[in-house]
Amino acid sequence: MKYGYFDDAKREYVIETPFTPLPWINYLGSNEFFGLISNTGGGYNFYRDAMLRRLTRYRYNNVPRDTGGRLFYIKDGDEIWSPTYFPAKKELDSYKCRHGNGYTVFESSKNGIKAELTCFVPIKDNCEINRLIISNSSDSKKEISITSAIEFCLWNAADDGTNFQRNFNIGEVEIEDGVIYHKTEYRERRNHYSFYAVNQKTTGFDTDLDTFLGKFKDYENPQTVIDGKSGNSKAHGWSPIASHRLEYSLSPGEKAEIIFILGYIEVPKSEKWDGPAANGIINKKPAKELINRYNTLKAISDELDALKKHWDELLSKFEVNSGDEKLDRMVNIWNQYQCMITFNMSRSASYYESGQGRGMGFRDSCQDLLGFVHMVPERARERILDIAAIQFENGGAWHQYQPLTKRGNANVGSGFNDDPLWLIGCTFAYVAETGDYSIMDEPVQFENKEGSEKPLFDHLRASFNYTLNNLGPHKLPLIGRADWNDCLNLNCFSEEPGESFQTCANIESDAESIFIAGMFVFYGRQYAQLCQKRGLIDEAEAATAAVNEMSDTILKHGWDGDWFLRAYDSNGDKVGSSSCTDGKIFIEPQGMCVMAEVGVDTGEAKKALEATKKYLTFEYGTCLVAPAYKEYHLHLGEISSYPPGYKENGSVFCHNNPWVSIAETVVGNADEAFEIFRTTCPAYIEDISDIHRTEPYVYSQTIAGQEAPTAGEAKNSWLTGTAAWTFVNVSQYLLGIKPELDGLCIKPCLPERFNNVKIKRIYRGATYNITFVRSDEKGLWVNGIKLDSNIVPAAPSGSVISVECRF
Ligand code: BGC
Ligand code: NOJ
Repeated sequence: MKYGYFDDAKREYVIETPFTPLPWINYLGSNEFFGLISNTGGGYNFYRDAMLRRLTRYRYNNVPRDTGGRLFYIKDGDEIWSPTYFPAKKELDSYKCRHGNGYTVFESSKNGIKAELTCFVPIKDNCEINRLIISNSSDSKKEISITSAIEFCLWNAADDGTNFQRNFNIGEVEIEDGVIYHKTEYRERRNHYSFYAVNQKTTGFDTDLDTFLGKFKDYENPQTVIDGKSGNSKAHGWSPIASHRLEYSLSPGEKAEIIFILGYIEVPKSEKWDGPAANGIINKKPAKELINRYNTLKAISDELDALKKHWDELLSKFEVNSGDEKLDRMVNIWNQYQCMITFNMSRSASYYESGQGRGMGFRDSCQDLLGFVHMVPERARERILDIAAIQFENGGAWHQYQPLTKRGNANVGSGFNDDPLWLIGCTFAYVAETGDYSIMDEPVQFENKEGSEKPLFDHLRASFNYTLNNLGPHKLPLIGRADWNDCLNLNCFSEEPGESFQTCANIESDAESIFIAGMFVFYGRQYAQLCQKRGLIDEAEAATAAVNEMSDTILKHGWDGDWFLRAYDSNGDKVGSSSCTDGKIFIEPQGMCVMAEVGVDTGEAKKALEATKKYLTFEYGTCLVAPAYKEYHLHLGEISSYPPGYKENGSVFCHNNPWVSIAETVVGNADEAFEIFRTTCPAYIEDISDIHRTEPYVYSQTIAGQEAPTAGEAKNSWLTGTAAWTFVNVSQYLLGIKPELDGLCIKPCLPERFNNVKIKRIYRGATYNITFVRSDEKGLWVNGIKLDSNIVPAAPSGSVISVECRF
């Protein structure tokens, strides 16, 4: 069952009912000011940091779900309704929610009144605009009132939800010319405030939640809205809100066009006050300037145009016309859009990440970069340097850093032994995309320590050597606290409820990871290429020798007979072997080792993929492990804490399905590769939205697996490394346009039915117009001349190259 449809021309997903299985959200904002917005207007705003600079309050886990957001009430006679359905929850005569790139529009109507609400964050300013157009489509005059409301968060979202003994005393607001200013803690250490403004004459306001709602009322039916009269309340502590009341008398056909702005202002310390500090009147000048920039409908439509251009530009780097509209809409719009959202948010704020949890993950950020480096290469460069600065001199790394301070997070610690290798992966991707070798000379600190700067290349060398310096008894890499699978904790034995499975006492055994071994082969080859380009020929050769040796070691000690083993545990026993009771086969080493071409010539690769299909793949995707663990195993950790079929314990962990799809391309199995891609790809499973439940336009982290009672149900949409890896898979392996150091490698691997594909790829400033046609004579023709390799050499910026790929 579907709840909407794709409008590809507008790059929108149009939701046709407020009753989606879960809130289906979108993101507003491109730089520093962000908003989450659901299909009923729910969500919240923050400036840069979702925990420390939260502007509006959102109650996760509340009943009803999705409480908090942009609230609007239209009162028409005795009828009170909301154009976003929530919070008034009155049945609407019509409803549409259009989620587009960086904006969301609601179109609804009731009893002859039409409402159109457009929400977006302009590119250059720290504010969210809500343009509300109300029109009278009936044939009689309408006397209506419109009441808006938002609830302020007292800045620190964690403290806001816990420290009530203080917080109920500190809330402060100012009201001037209908603008409501939120200035809690401004009197002391904060040099920032927020405001909620409207560009039309108001007939009342409220800033105190209790007055606005009335006794025992909630947002569904505030007393002031029922009474048709605002309380004109001033908040002193408790819960400051901002609500405006506007009244209109609309003749048939007449419209009211209203602009609401939620803004964030920082003021230099010396200019905080308007008059003596003791008067407590804040400096509103910058707020007024911002409000003035957006007080006309023309200014709003100009900004919407600018936003559209911004996304046109970002999405123009890779465009495909394959004849399969689902493939095209994912590649051209939604997959790339999601990649940019993971760039902006990392894992901080979604409907599954509270904005109060993790900082930026080392491995997560490196992998996310693979999906956005072609869109924002300069920002990717900066990101790589930030990540590298939390690395240790021995190549290990802090596992996370805080985006505001950019410093490693000691609470989470280090010892996740896959981390260092991802740094090679993202740097290689950056250099292959841009040709900018200078990044490797950039001085970068180790562990954020002044004076420890070494060229980025030395960090890559440290990464490579970290694996070699940390080998176990089988000469396979030691796993440390965990590798990519954070829940396979072979050195962290937790018996305390509630403690972190990853950071509890580490027993430091010789547990080894075949997954890291595969990664070492995959990324070690990229490292060798980078050495070569730096003229370090001996080092390149030594690296290649180490990589080849690791590949042999995998086949010798990491092969179980029909598939790759997952690990050796702290006892030296096998994990992911046919000899295990549960957890016989894991997806990660099958995907990664075959991607790294281990066992391709000797047959193991194909066998591993056959086993993957047989034991792990079912109608909703390829599961992480089978059989799932049925009981808690102290020596395996968090994986066995999840009920069978969920999360790391045997769900379809969408992140590593693309590894298997890529692996299928490595052995030349186009149909299987595409099938794996298709099975979890949102656009192809839109029809089962009632089962899948999360948004049909973006990937989710996890889909309940073959052993789960709710098989097929997804969770954790949006902020997942799945976005980047599926884009890498579809763009570089299925469509086969892969940036390499010397140019663009073109090697599609697509099912037979794709016989006329056109791609526009902007690469290092040059435009490549690429056509794939089926032919017996295979090869690449560049501007009409046949190439004797499958790498089209990088062309000068500004040039236009036409490539025909016969395949
Ligand atoms: C989740 C993992 C995640 C880990 C670290 C676990 O609870 O299942 O997916 O990587 O926490 O944040
Ligand atoms: C989500 C985490 O963000 C990521 O770092 C990890 O690799 C996967 N879960 C698998 O556990």
